Amino acid sequence: MKKRIGILLSGRGSNFEALADSVAAGRIPNAEIAIVISHREGAPGIDRARARGIDARVIPSKGLEREAYDRQVVAVLQEKNVDLVCLAGYLRLLSPYFVQAFRGRILNIHPSLLPAFPGLESQRQALEHGAKFAGCTVHFVDETLDAGPIILQSAVPIRDDDTVDSLSARILAEEHRIYSQAVRIVLEGRYRIDGRRVIILSDAPIPNNVAKNAAKNHV
Ligand code: GRF
Repeated sequence: MKKRIGILLSGRGSNFEALADSVAAGRIPNAEIAIVISHREGAPGIDRARARGIDARVIPSKGLEREAYDRQVVAVLQEKNVDLVCLAGYLRLLSPYFVQAFRGRILNIHPSLLPAFPGLESQRQALEHGAKFAGCTVHFVDETLDAGPIILQSAVPIRDDDTVDSLSARILAEEHRIYSQAVRIVLEGRYRIDGRRVIILSDAPIPNNVAKNAAKNHV
């Protein structure tokens, strides 16, 4: 059975598209994107999902308390039998209700080397701080903002002539690369968590026939 991914986004959706491309190309094997949800009418990511024939829905958040809204989103994710929730530029905090409903099964991509520069405009924060390296982080989502266990990171140098735009573009290319890698690792269960540390178990997934033979021979 294919693992089912649910995507939450607020804006342009380039990370969603990178994941969709990876699923289509087999870089994230045995998976499908079951649903894309946004709280924002007119989020370009929703149109991009529909253009790919993916079920994409806007669930407006206006006027709703955080948990009341999240209950609606969780209900749709459950109705679609989602195994893994990927936040892809989702500009809302999740309620404890949401985190509990998908505990250990929610990932986020953040454009900094966490724990540096959490929150908004991380690329600008890194530049203005005078950091020499920036980057991105894929992490599990828990009740704390941008602070769940880190799965993968990638660093990029900050150049003297960088602007927020040039730095953001360099980071974004790495976001697209490591988000797919992290989703694959998590869907394949190739990790264990030791306190705050996510230990990646092996880079080489065992092909199906080898795994079956090993089971047969009690290896
Ligand atoms: C990305 O930089 C992501 O790291 C951050 O929001 C941005 C979303 O971009 N959380 P996109 O919508 O995926 O293009």
